[in-house]
Amino acid sequence: MPSSIVLTGATTGIGRATALALAHRASPLILHGLEPADEVADLLRAVRAGMPAGAELFYFAADFGDLDEAERLVHDIRGVTERVDLLVNNAARPGPPTHTLTGTGNEITFQTNYLAPVVLTTGLLDRVEAGRIVNVASATHLSASLHLDDLTLARGRYSPAAAYAHSKLALVTYSCWLAAHRPSPSVEVVSVHPGVIATGLLHAMFSVGGDRPEHAADNIVYVAGRHGDNGTYYDERRPEPPNPEAAEPATQDRLHAATLDILAV
Ligand SMILES: NC(=O)c1ccc[n+]([C@@H]2O[C@H](COP(=O)([O-])OP(=O)(O)OC[C@H]3O[C@@H](n4cnc5c(N)ncnc54)[C@H](OP(=O)(O)O)[C@@H]3O)[C@@H](O)[C@H]2O)c1
Repeated sequence: MPSSIVLTGATTGIGRATALALAHRASPLILHGLEPADEVADLLRAVRAGMPAGAELFYFAADFGDLDEAERLVHDIRGVTERVDLLVNNAARPGPPTHTLTGTGNEITFQTNYLAPVVLTTGLLDRVEAGRIVNVASATHLSASLHLDDLTLARGRYSPAAAYAHSKLALVTYSCWLAAHRPSPSVEVVSVHPGVIATGLLHAMFSVGGDRPEHAADNIVYVAGRHGDNGTYYDERRPEPPNPEAAEPATQDRLHAATLDILAV
């Protein structure tokens, strides 16, 4: 039976390859990106060509630099499906060259890569009743430290790569928290480092080569198809311990409380 799948950041890089890899088993397939639908017509045509006859495909645009747009995305998705079997939080941005705050006062990398996925996941949680949540993280989180007293990185801690790693550590910590506080034992939450992949995001921050996006898509599809691994962090296909801070329940609770405070504003 086709699955109801939500995938963010589907327009380029790993997300695009993952959309194409998941197309044959999805209905509805609900894709998200930054651009308006008419600018991603080629992608949507290619994805549709790989979908089963009669399967539904939706595309919604939302800029996670604005949390209202993340809320609107929740509303849009809820409008087209009663059930989500697989939610892949893939969208992310590199840290910008200089420290940047959003209109709501959040460090923009933290908001885009962490707060917006939390808004989306929270807003869809009752629809992911027996489903799976895959948060696309990064091995860079392993060398980061969570600045719970300075989540906007205002105290001279900013660099593009540090902000990116900080946002990914927050996402992995959230994955561990949600795995421990899941609304039902049938929901499973995992996070995955998809590989070092040649994309705009990688090259915006690091001068290294990388594998093809299809390599990461295969890893994400593999992890999406696992069961009985709630709370696991995967390095590509290998279960690995995450950053010890992410695995620490007291840290998870403190991040969760701080996140609720931020989102309440
Ligand atoms: N590439 C790597 O080596 C690597 C390694 C570890 C983890 N990852 C993770 O893999 C995931 C995919 O990254 P990628 O390398 O494929 O990067 P990418 O090619 O830049 O794709 C990122 C996706 O997120 C979207 N996005 C960017 N800013 C956004 C915003 N403000 N609001 C909503 N969506 C936004 C992008 O839309 P646009 O195309 O319109 O910009 C694109 O669809 C990310 O979570 C990344 O952290 C990548």
